Amino acid sequence: MQNDNRLRDFATRICAWQRRHGRHHLPWQGTRDPYRIWLSEIMLQQTQVATVIPYYERFLARFPDIGALAGADQDAVMPYWAGLGYYARARNLHRCAQVLVAEHEGRFPPHSGGIAQLPGIGRSTAAAIAAFAHGERSPIMDGNVKRVFTRFFGVRGHPGLRAVEQRLWALAEAALEQAPADLDMAAYTQGLMDLGSQVCTRGKPLCGQCPMADGCEARRLGLQRELPEPRPRRAIPDRHCAMLLLLSDGSVLLEKQPQPGIWGGLWSLPRYDSATELADACRNMGVTVTEDGRMATLVHTFTHFRLHIEPWRLEVPHRAAEAPADRKWVRAGQLGDTAVPAPVRSLLDALPAPFGAEPNDPGVFSLSEQ
Ligand code: ADE
Repeated sequence: MQNDNRLRDFATRICAWQRRHGRHHLPWQGTRDPYRIWLSEIMLQQTQVATVIPYYERFLARFPDIGALAGADQDAVMPYWAGLGYYARARNLHRCAQVLVAEHEGRFPPHSGGIAQLPGIGRSTAAAIAAFAHGERSPIMDGNVKRVFTRFFGVRGHPGLRAVEQRLWALAEAALEQAPADLDMAAYTQGLMDLGSQVCTRGKPLCGQCPMADGCEARRLGLQRELPEPRPRRAIPDRHCAMLLLLSDGSVLLEKQPQPGIWGGLWSLPRYDSATELADACRNMGVTVTEDGRMATLVHTFTHFRLHIEPWRLEVPHRAAEAPADRKWVRAGQLGDTAVPAPVRSLLDALPAPFGAEPNDPGVFSLSEQ
């Protein structure tokens, strides 16, 4: 189905569904008072309806209008927010009430454009206030509503990206342009919110109960789980190192990792910035690595970088001088009891006996990094 068709009856379908199946008895629905609507919208940002209701009622009982809120000390307001979290919301609410009294005769501006200029009120919240208070025909686009539009119109890309968000706003505007002149904006706006939070949910959307299932692009393609797309992962840098597997008489030389540092406190293989440095270090120990000691490169991914490990294996008949304090010779049989980083464990497991792990060896454990 083309978007034009999808857009044509989008708003009327949402509206009809809201009237039959949406929520009608929330405490902020029986009013056209922008103050009460504003308070509910701010509380409902980041917070569930059930949590908000008692806070909303206590707050209104103490601060029944803009004047009461503006006239209070901020210290008197904060206890009525305590437990709701995101306290900047409460500070902005208080500041906004003072701006309304100082600059707007204690009233909200009549249109969403003016409301959106006030402290703590973004475009979507301003449109919701204007739609519920005066039936203004302006679209909203909060997190739940983004999900509805993303899925229904099959919008790719993370909705937090500017270009994707602009596309969603454009679709929301187009849906309103296509809607009949007498569209009930309060029902439509509430319907989008209700559908997003109760049917088109993040985890398991209830497509069987959705009024928009017919025509939903995500459903048609079976992409409900993939849309909206998650935030793109940051590209992480690559780092390179060389590791020495120095073996002698059934033991391997391990090195205690300094803290802080990757693998701090674990026992790892001696690590060098490059194969050249590794070769130099071997020469200083009186041993020589050769090309046939080179093993396959291993890539290990940390949260902040990818480590390319170039392992070099060298077997010496007699151990050189005593290992220094931060190094020790570990017998193959003791490796299972030694805290070794996961990729080093894989390297040791890849060696022939006595180092290599038997399949399903219960003594072998692996450690993973954060
Ligand atoms: N979330 C944001 N605004 C809402 C509203 N008016 N009703 C229910 N949930 C909401």
